Amino acid sequence: MITVKQMIDHIYDEKFLVNSEWSERKVKELQEVYTTNNIASAGMSYLDHYIKDPDQPFVDPEAGIGNLLCMIHILKVKNGVDFETSLKSLYGVEINPESVEICKSRLLVGQEKYRHIVDNNIREADSLKYNYRWDDADPYLSNQDIHNQNIFEIE
Ligand SMILES: C[S@@+](CC[C@H](N)C(=O)[O-])C[C@H]1O[C@@H](n2cnc3c(N)ncnc32)[C@H](O)[C@@H]1O
Repeated sequence: MITVKQMIDHIYDEKFLVNSEWSERKVKELQEVYTTNNIASAGMSYLDHYIKDPDQPFVDPEAGIGNLLCMIHILKVKNGVDFETSLKSLYGVEINPESVEICKSRLLVGQEKYRHIVDNNIREADSLKYNYRWDDADPYLSNQDIHNQNIFEIE
């Protein structure tokens, strides 16, 4: 069983922290600035019910490398929610493919047997256009279009 300490050690790998070489490169290349851990933790007081309810889903529409999602993940497990249940409740949309992969890897904490969960829940997409269906349908088709398509296929 994975411990909270193992989660923290894996997630807060210093290469992803603000001021790291990696973070400085992201600022220069893409003007991307990530949420610092103290900002993410300050926001946690507003998210109490997400942390205490094991099944309460949480979506970050600009997930980045998953600072907010990872923090919720750690707090859920710390509150007694099992790792898999916590992972299943966390969703993210992120436009940058490199960040998507880092976000997935941080949430997984090396537990590759749960890769299918993060592959489903953490999507590379434009969150302003994504349909938030979390399935195999075209991510940018509206629910109405998908519904119409399904009706057409049945007939
Ligand atoms: C401040 S950072 C992410 C912070 C993140 N919530 C966290 O906890 O680390 C903002 C992120 O939004 C992403 N982003 C910007 N526009 C986006 C869009 N239209 N759709 C999805 N992601 C977007 C950027 O690539 C960047 O990773």
